[in-house]
Amino acid sequence: MLKIKNLIKVFYPGTVNETKAINGIDLHIEKGDVVSLIGSNGSGKSTLFNLISGTFPVTSGQIILDGSDVTNMSEYKRAMLIGRVFQDPTKGTSPTMSIEDNLIVSSKKGMRGLNFSLYKKGAREQFNSMLDKIGLGGRLKDNVGLLSGGQRQALTLLMTMQSNPKLLLLDEHTAALDPQAADRIMQMTEDIIKTHSLTCMMITHNMQFAIGFGNRLIMMNGGKVILDVKGEEKKSLTVPKLISFFKSRGGEEFSDDAALLTD
Ligand SMILES: Nc1ncnc2c1ncn2[C@@H]1O[C@H](COP(=O)(O)OP(=O)(O)OP(=O)(O)O)[C@@H](O)[C@H]1O
Ligand SMILES: [Mg+2]
Repeated sequence: MLKIKNLIKVFYPGTVNETKAINGIDLHIEKGDVVSLIGSNGSGKSTLFNLISGTFPVTSGQIILDGSDVTNMSEYKRAMLIGRVFQDPTKGTSPTMSIEDNLIVSSKKGMRGLNFSLYKKGAREQFNSMLDKIGLGGRLKDNVGLLSGGQRQALTLLMTMQSNPKLLLLDEHTAALDPQAADRIMQMTEDIIKTHSLTCMMITHNMQFAIGFGNRLIMMNGGKVILDVKGEEKKSLTVPKLISFFKSRGGEEFSDDAALLTD
């Protein structure tokens, strides 16, 4: 599904600010894999997503998505194949537009060449039933700026699904939410992944979420993958085990590991 071959990303090469953010990653994410991606601040998690999505060009290496080499494909074209949700609830939606108009814009992304006004009529009912499921039933005409952070992330997830992405990349998409909203969004994320049989990678600093989510867990440090576990091995993970492994591999602090350890 997603093959990453000897990927390297150097920011500001040849200057005093040179940073090797991705330092030789080989990874094969299989169709249907649901991956938690963890690692300390600056370990290269978001950069990996930015390279997969085409936000930044790679320094070297190859990215193959669903059999096609997308290494040099524009970010715009890749956005048809990849759905992304970020930490900041204000990033995925436009606050001055209504919920309906936001949904229309995201639907259009996946519909090249179709007469959109024809589609729009049937879409309203579909949008309303989707909104019902996330507690926003009947609010199509409300401006998105009125919604809470959790509601906006829920809407962003729905919008992301409008273009039928092959791959969903979640970059700490619950980190800015209160615990209840974060739990709701995690539940919704899992439902969406199941319903659409998605392949997904989720970056999180919450190791409990990371352990509970999906079938595979990957840990990065210093721009490299230092742990990649699946199936039963993943099920047997605990937060203390993860932290001691991380430290044994020379990792420093996870940003919130102390808090999680005292739970
Ligand atoms: N656009 C950029 N320009 C220059 N350097 C960058 C850029 N983006 C990331 N970096 C650098 O690359 C390294 C990896 O950063 P990245 O954002 O991928 O880490 P991360 O694992 O997502 O961290 P966090 O958990 O804090 O989000 C860091 O040293 C960072 O400063
Ligand atoms: Mg990041």
